This record gives sequence, C-alpha cells and structure tokens, in this order.
Amino acid sequence: MELKITVFKKPATQHYQLLLAADPSKELIDSYLNRSFCYQATAQGQLVGIIILLPTHPETLEIVNIAVDPQIRNQGIGQQLLTFVEKTARNKKFKCLEIGTGSTSFAQLYLYQKRGFRIVGIDQDFFSIHYNKEIIENKLVLKDMLRLKKLL
Ligand code: ACO
Repeated sequence: MELKITVFKKPATQHYQLLLAADPSKELIDSYLNRSFCYQATAQGQLVGIIILLPTHPETLEIVNIAVDPQIRNQGIGQQLLTFVEKTARNKKFKCLEIGTGSTSFAQLYLYQKRGFRIVGIDQDFFSIHYNKEIIENKLVLKDMLRLKKLL
C-alpha cells in the first residue's frame, strides 16, 4: 500500500482512536505527545497509521506509540512506519531507537524483533503500576513491559 507519511501537530479524534489502540491511557498519551515528533500515515487521503517518537537520552529516540487502523493490519503498514522512522532518526543523527511493549504482546514482539530490535530489559510491573484498569491480552493479565533497542 502506498503511504504518505507526514508530521501532525494537533491530534484529532481519529488520531486518538489509533493512539489509544497502542496505549489505553489518554493521560499518558497527552504527557508525551507535545514533547514528541508525531507522524501520521495516510493512504488515498485516509489516516491509516501513526508513529510517535520521543527524544529520551542523548542520541536516543523512543517509539512511544505505533498503531495501524485495525481494518488494514498485517498488510505491511507497521513495517513501513518502522522503516520510515529508522531513516528519519538516522537523518536527525540519532544513534539508537528504543521501544517498550507488553510481555503479552506476542505479535508486536515478533514485528520488532523481525525489524532487528533486541530485548534489553524488563520494566517489571510497569502496567500494574501505571494503568488503573487491568489489561488482558492473549488471555493473560499484562503486568510487565519488555524494553527493546535497535542501534542505528
Ligand atoms: N503472532 C505472530 N506474528 C503475528 C501475529 C501473531 N499473533 N499477528 C500478526 N503477526 C505478524 C504478521 O504476519 C506480520 O508479519 P509478516 O510480515 O512476517 O507476515 C507482522 O506480524 C505485522 O506486520 P505489519 O503488517 O507490518 O504490521 P501492522 O500494519 O499490522 O502494524 C501494529 C503492527 C502497529 C502493532 C498493529 O498491529 C497495531 O496497530 N496494533 C494495535 C496497537 C499496538 O499494539 N501498538 C503497539 C503497542 S507498543 C507501542 O506503541 C510502543
């Protein structure tokens, strides 16, 4: 699918629908959006995905949110977003990309490792501590965040 990836500044309802698919806390989303580089992907004028990059440590960008329209997942859009971000981060002279995801997020863990991310740590009880509502994924209660890193 041919995508147009551009910066967006002010999130609309449609952006929030995607953002909340990756991160169920609007409060957390709002805490990182205005400090991040925010990109949207459109296909034939329709919003199909978003990817949000937060500069954390020197030379490091964290992908804090990535989401694709549920109707068109598993068609390579997620990979296109990750490829775009790697290129953009290199152009901006960043040396490292990080991403955190649930220990129960098997499909996401597959995708990130396929793209060369390596697991570097566990943020134990991240989801138990930071989210009021219990999250069930793949029939498991989500408690821990796995941290992954890719050197550019
Ligand atoms: N187990 C293993 N692999 C799977 C599974 C599964 N259950 N489901 C899908 N896959 C594979 C697909 O086959 C595909 O691999 P392939 O290309 O080798 O066949 C791959 O996972 C998906 O690749 P894409 O099609 O490029 O990805 P997609 O466009 O579906 O986007 C994304 C991936 C963004 C994770 C999407 O599924 C999504 O929006 N999910 C909901 C939100 C979310 O979980 N976001 C990430 C949270 S973490 C964070 O935001 C920092």
